[in-house]
This record gives sequence, C-alpha cells and structure tokens, in this order.
Amino acid sequence: MLLHAYLVEYLEFLYQDDDYIKLMMLEVLLSLPWLKRKDIMQIQLMKGKRGLIMGMANEYSIAYGIASILSNCGSELIFTAQNERFKQKIFDIELFKNCRVFTCDVSQPDAIPALFQEIGNLYGSIDFVVHSIAFSDRKELQGKYYDTSRDNFLNAINISCYSFTEVCKCAKDVMPNGGSILTLSYYGAEKVVPNYNVMGVIKSALEASVRYLASDLGEFNIRVNAVSAGPIKTLASSGVGGFSKILEYEQNRSPLCRNVTREDVGKACTFLLSDFASGITGEIIHVDCGCNTVGVKF
Ligand SMILES: NC(=O)c1ccc[n+]([C@@H]2O[C@H](COP(=O)([O-])OP(=O)(O)OC[C@H]3O[C@@H](n4cnc5c(N)ncnc54)[C@H](O)[C@@H]3O)[C@@H](O)[C@H]2O)c1
Repeated sequence: MLLHAYLVEYLEFLYQDDDYIKLMMLEVLLSLPWLKRKDIMQIQLMKGKRGLIMGMANEYSIAYGIASILSNCGSELIFTAQNERFKQKIFDIELFKNCRVFTCDVSQPDAIPALFQEIGNLYGSIDFVVHSIAFSDRKELQGKYYDTSRDNFLNAINISCYSFTEVCKCAKDVMPNGGSILTLSYYGAEKVVPNYNVMGVIKSALEASVRYLASDLGEFNIRVNAVSAGPIKTLASSGVGGFSKILEYEQNRSPLCRNVTREDVGKACTFLLSDFASGITGEIIHVDCGCNTVGVKF
C-alpha cells in the first residue's frame, strides 16, 4: 500500500515534466499491472485547490462522499459543522481527523459572514465551496403539504435556501481568482414526491437561486451549480416519511437498475468543482441513475 502511494507520487512528479527520459520511465511504470493511468489523473484533478465543505454530519452524509473523492483527487479541505457535537464527529473520521473544522450554525444571523471573514484571514483565498445543508422539522415531512406551519416554513427556508445565497455572497470575497460553488437539491423540487412537502418547495427556490447566483457571480469567474441527487439514506433523509419506499420505487424505475451512491454524487461534484467544468454554471445536474428521465417503466 505504502509502495503504491509512493509510486503514485513519483508518477505524478514524472507526469509534470516533458523531459523525454522521464516520460519513458513513466510509460514503463504505467505498464505495471497495479498502477493505473487513473491514479495520476485523479491526483492531478484537484491538486492545489482548497475548498470548504459545509454539512458533513457523519460518514453517511452526502458531503462525506463528496469530501472523500475531493480528497482522493488532491484537494485541501476545510469543514464547517453545525455545532460542537458534529465537529467532534468529523474529527472521528480517520481521513479528516487533521482537517480544520469551523463551527457555523447557518441559522444564526452573523455566522456566515464571520466564517468567511475568518477563512479570509487564515487562508487568503479558497477555490470552491460545497453547501450540503438542509433542515425541516421531521413532523412536517409527512402528511399534507398544506399543514406546513409558518414557523417551520420560515426556519426551513432560512437554513436550506437562504443560507446558500449568503454563502455565495460571502464566498465571493475569498475567491479573488474565481471558483466553483455547489449545493445539493432533489427531484422533489420538480415533481411531487409524497411527504417531501415543504422541502420540495424550498428545493425549487434553491434551484432558482442557483440560476440567479450564477448570473450575479459570473463576472467574478465564479460558477454556481446544483447537483440533484437521487435518494440516499442519511440522517436528514431518514426524517422523510416512507423514505425506504422512495428508495425502493427509484431503484425499480432507474435505467441503471440501482440507487445512486454517495460515491456517484461525489464524483459528479468533483467534476463540477474542477476546471473540467469551466464552462458550466447555473445548472442543476441530475445524479440519480437516470430516474428523472423515466416516465413509465414496466
Ligand atoms: N439524502 C438524500 O436522499 C438527498 C437527496 C438529494 C439531496 N439531498 C440534500 O443533500 C444535502 C445533505 O443532506 P444529507 O442527506 O447528506 O444529510 P445529512 O443529515 O448527512 O446532512 C445535512 C447537514 O445539514 C446540516 N445542518 C442542518 N441544519 C443546519 C444549520 N442550522 N447550520 C449548519 N448546518 C446545518 C447538518 O448538521 C448536516 O450536516 C441536503 O441539502 C439534502 O437536502 C439529500
């Protein structure tokens, strides 16, 4: 394992040079059966890029899938956690135990500006942000949508949608060289999904925000996109009434005959955060094993 890691580092060194002898050595090493071209391609993709991950609660979180792939691809990661309890959970994850974690409850009025001020002071600049945050009282993720209370509606839209707008506004100040910002949405923004209720309405607002924010931030060379992920069992999704039925339904209608994984979402997000997506902004990209494309499936 250690030898493999060492060789991958060495390959990367060779890859960066156009010296003929080094390139020959590179070809010889790549012919070894257990070293793959993808090893160096992965490391190169996000090398030198530093980014902020907001919303990783534990190893089941979608943000964990995204952060793991980003880390494998060479990026330097900073995290935020809603509170001290979630902060400790990040330190408990082996891969991220040495990362810096800021506490940031996005529902608090000055929390987001203060976070980016601190990031600016400590790091100068960052290259990307992942916003993977949502909240609703789970009692309102079942039954009729018209029973949504005003209090929960306002709290849920504040945390799950407004926070993204404020994140984009503040992130601009620490992205002097441009960058890429992502949020997570769900199909319930487009079509009715039983029990998703208020969160569906809020995800529609979030998707509209993505388009307006992409338009606002384009002149700073900052791209803003959303990934609309298929259903994945997490702390947040387990609050949606009948979630296991949604998982089963989606698996049955999926062209790929399976549910999406955290890794699938992580890979697509990494692409959107990388320079390979330099011409993509204002988009909602479905990463759902094709479910949204299917009307009827026998
Ligand atoms: N799991 C799914 O099926 C699914 C599908 C599509 C989109 N999404 C979206 O993905 C994102 C991540 O959710 P997840 O499923 O990984 O669940 P999760 O529970 O792992 O993550 C939700 C995160 O939101 C954070 N959060 C909630 N209130 C907050 C606050 N006031 N301040 C700061 N952070 C707060 C939580 O601490 C947690 O880290 C959400 O936007 C969710 O709507 C989830």
